[in-house]
Amino acid sequence: MLEKNIKLKISISILNCDFLNLGKEIKKVEEAGADMLHLDIMDGSFVPNISFGPPVVRCIRKNTKLFLDTHLMIKNPDKHLGSFIESGADLINVHAEECPHLDMTLNSIKKAGLKTAVSLNPSTPLCCIENVLGLLDMVLIMTVNPGFGGQKFICEMTDKIRKLKGMIEKYRRFNNTNKTIEIQVDGGINNKTALLAANAGANILVIGSAFFNSENPAEYISNIRKTLMNNSKSKVRIV
Ligand code: DX5
Ligand code: ZN
Repeated sequence: MLEKNIKLKISISILNCDFLNLGKEIKKVEEAGADMLHLDIMDGSFVPNISFGPPVVRCIRKNTKLFLDTHLMIKNPDKHLGSFIESGADLINVHAEECPHLDMTLNSIKKAGLKTAVSLNPSTPLCCIENVLGLLDMVLIMTVNPGFGGQKFICEMTDKIRKLKGMIEKYRRFNNTNKTIEIQVDGGINNKTALLAANAGANILVIGSAFFNSENPAEYISNIRKTLMNNSKSKVRIV
């Protein structure tokens, strides 16, 4: 069964926003019509940078109804799952490189009633997730090495997105299921690279610095939606 008309979603990363005015920055994301808020959790160990943790996620939860897409770039995520679940996240995304018992980790997230996702660093092969597709709502293909906002999109990742799309379609056919597994891209997404990623099969675009550096963030998002809509190769539905 081929997956058709999968919806395009935009998830805004607050990593490079003005943290002194976090409430206002989140309002900006809401008013721009984004579908999700992407929360980059960094521990200074799995990645060189340190960002924020569950107390901040809890405050964000109290202040927005946006879907909270939580990207854990931390060592030993199993140890911290409980606090992120309690903080009010809607989805927990763990890195395959840090989960020796990925099946168990994903089951714990599912059991708590949250959406599940796995991230793959640029050099991590797709075979890491082949045996857990049934437990996944989303796969994140990192299009930069995680750690910092404002990096350059790694073009070679478009092939990886295409392969992942094929792997998901094969899984759906083989298991005769309609299960949707969304493909998210994160790192260096702007109005040009969005098209490359969507044409390869990604349907959730994480956008950080391009959004916050733009003079008119709402217009920036709507232009990306328009560009993708006018592109015949795009496999996503713009709603
Ligand atoms: C990278 C993070 C990102 C990223 C997004 O480690 O996961 O979410 O900072 O920001 P831009 O769009 O600036 O690459
Ligand atoms: Zn991220």
